[in-house]
Amino acid sequence: MIQGALRLFLMIVLVGCVLLPHALVAGDAESVAPSLEELLLNGAVKGKVKRLWGGNDVKFVIRIEDGSKQGLKVIFRPEHLVDEWKHRKEISAYRLARLSGIDNVPVTVSRALPQKFFKNAGEKTLARLVFREGMLEGAVQVFVNGAHDPLGEEGYAWARDHLAALSEPAQPITMDLGEARQFSRLLVFDFLQSNPDRFSGGNLLQTDDGSYWFIDNADAYFGCTRPKRRVQQLSHFDRTQVAALRQLTKSGLEGELRALLGPKQVGRIWKRLQVVLQRVDGLIAEHGEDNVLF
Ligand SMILES: Nc1ncnc2c1ncn2[C@@H]1O[C@H](COP(=O)(O)OP(=O)(O)O)[C@@H](O)[C@H]1O
Ligand SMILES: [Mg+2]
Repeated sequence: MIQGALRLFLMIVLVGCVLLPHALVAGDAESVAPSLEELLLNGAVKGKVKRLWGGNDVKFVIRIEDGSKQGLKVIFRPEHLVDEWKHRKEISAYRLARLSGIDNVPVTVSRALPQKFFKNAGEKTLARLVFREGMLEGAVQVFVNGAHDPLGEEGYAWARDHLAALSEPAQPITMDLGEARQFSRLLVFDFLQSNPDRFSGGNLLQTDDGSYWFIDNADAYFGCTRPKRRVQQLSHFDRTQVAALRQLTKSGLEGELRALLGPKQVGRIWKRLQVVLQRVDGLIAEHGEDNVLF
């Protein structure tokens, strides 16, 4: 009896101290995201909306009531007059990441906020945004605290070196496996969403736990051959991501993304997904699964 109680106590300590903190690390696919999504969708806005300066697009920092003193820090990326797609691409990037088994895109949801929250944003800013019936649509995204840009101007060289290290089929991976896995995922992810704008600076962040965060996905879905060339050179793939891609169906993909991107783009993602799996299957046929998936 006492032993049973002790075991239960130890289990609770294990879950609380060891498993839960890991759920907050990028890469753990089924983590706390659903409840975070819920909070971003419905949580009350706390305090004032502030502008996040820098870059071309308008972005705001908002706090959402989460029981803490400061509230949860999020970025609101609103709908722009000149481009009705950008904020939708941010939401679809998050959904596509989840569908492909990866947690490297901060939780992002679609939400409309009342126009009155933005009344101090300035005329010029407001003139760039789309207000409908007193509401502003946009993407609400978790702000990754403590994240920094680890690459700066060296992004392209870093990507080239990492890719070279993962290009030789059936060769042991010599770099840190966590780093290699996230890099491999990133190349697959950016090919799926045809995103050429990753290594130019500021779009790949890292936190101290080693997690990479794939942010700023607004310039995806451009015809660009570079992401494809990278995947066709890549010879080591993340087992979890590949398993998730194999599970995906075209209708599943459409169900999640069609309303955000339209049917044409979803069809293209589906085609690119086949290209990835062909590459993986070709390598596996030649070198064996354990030399390709890790
Ligand atoms: N979700 C986020 N978490 C933490 N920092 C972010 C996040 N989104 C953006 N940032 C910060 O804001 C900068 C600009 O955002 P970004 O989405 O790259 O837009 P742009 O490049 O158009 O300015 C990023 O380089 C990063 O420093
Ligand atoms: Mg950027």
